[in-house]
Amino acid sequence: MRTLVLGGQYGDEGKGKILSHIAIKDNPRVVARGGVGPNAGHQIFWNGQKYSMRLIPCGFVNEKARLLIGAGVLVNPEVFIREITLVGAEKRAGIDFRATAILQKHIDEDSKSENSAKIGTTKTGCGPAMTDKVTRTAKSVSEIPELAPYMTDVVKEVNDTKDVLIEGTQGFMLSLLYGTYPFVTSKDTSASTIAADVGLGPKSIDEVIMVTKSYTTRVGNGPLPDEMPVDEAMKMGYQEYGSVTGRPRRTSKDLHFDNLRLAARINSATQIAITKIDVRFPGNNGVKKLENLTQTARDFIRNVEKELATPVTLIGTGPDVHDIIDLRD
Ligand code: IMP
Ligand code: MG
Repeated sequence: MRTLVLGGQYGDEGKGKILSHIAIKDNPRVVARGGVGPNAGHQIFWNGQKYSMRLIPCGFVNEKARLLIGAGVLVNPEVFIREITLVGAEKRAGIDFRATAILQKHIDEDSKSENSAKIGTTKTGCGPAMTDKVTRTAKSVSEIPELAPYMTDVVKEVNDTKDVLIEGTQGFMLSLLYGTYPFVTSKDTSASTIAADVGLGPKSIDEVIMVTKSYTTRVGNGPLPDEMPVDEAMKMGYQEYGSVTGRPRRTSKDLHFDNLRLAARINSATQIAITKIDVRFPGNNGVKKLENLTQTARDFIRNVEKELATPVTLIGTGPDVHDIIDLRD
């Protein structure tokens, strides 16, 4: 089975938690990451420790899984080396030799540019590296000596393996094609692109799990319907801070079903994962069975299924990898 997990909102939907759970439960041989690059931050609470991973797949929590970064992903060599060292994954991590490297000049430009400031980018150099890629002046990861031990053909690895977990990053509303342009990231973030990032065709994906938080957050500039003031978000326990930039995230209480329906359609979502149900509906922390959720939480989930005409199969009930209800077969 090849399962692709991606975000249905503005990033930070809680993909890290869903991905790490699936990596343990489904025990895939290979976990491959697509998406833009180290502008993403996936948070994982694992063995009493908090990890914030910007490049290596969240599937690192399964010690037997091979950890791959697809050709479409921008790689900051320093971030990659730091992360594999942190989790001791030197022997099982690989990068597609076709991937593009982020250099210091890209980070400098992203930090200084007026347009980056207007968009509120993560200043991780992703946009400028994508520009170099499009103008065909970018440097390949295969030209970076420190990365030599990790070069591999991800296309071959993911196509030759049946059990693969594919990790998307960012969120649908940040897509260069379908998001709130120009307040978007530098690439499409939909399922087809994530699959292409790791070298899989659309027919090679069995399940697409679209993740949505129980409310909506956004970090950086651009429209956010029904945005609430920070003090209100604090009071409700919704206030969050960016895992890459530390910036306070902007909050909107409800789900934006028009956007989510478009996302479900363009991503061919076959399942929905809902995270932070315990934050939106107190009294549900750590619940592991659907029947133990409060009635309001269950009604909310049924409504999401109805609005998106897609089954909700995973429900996050707390920060730990194991705080989850898994309704998949
Ligand atoms: P960039 O991707 O760093 O160029 O930033 C463009 C916009 O996308 C900014 O609003 C960022 O905050 C947002 N963004 C990029 N990656 C992520 C992510 O993984 N989570 C949340 N927001 C993101
Ligand atoms: Mg994030």
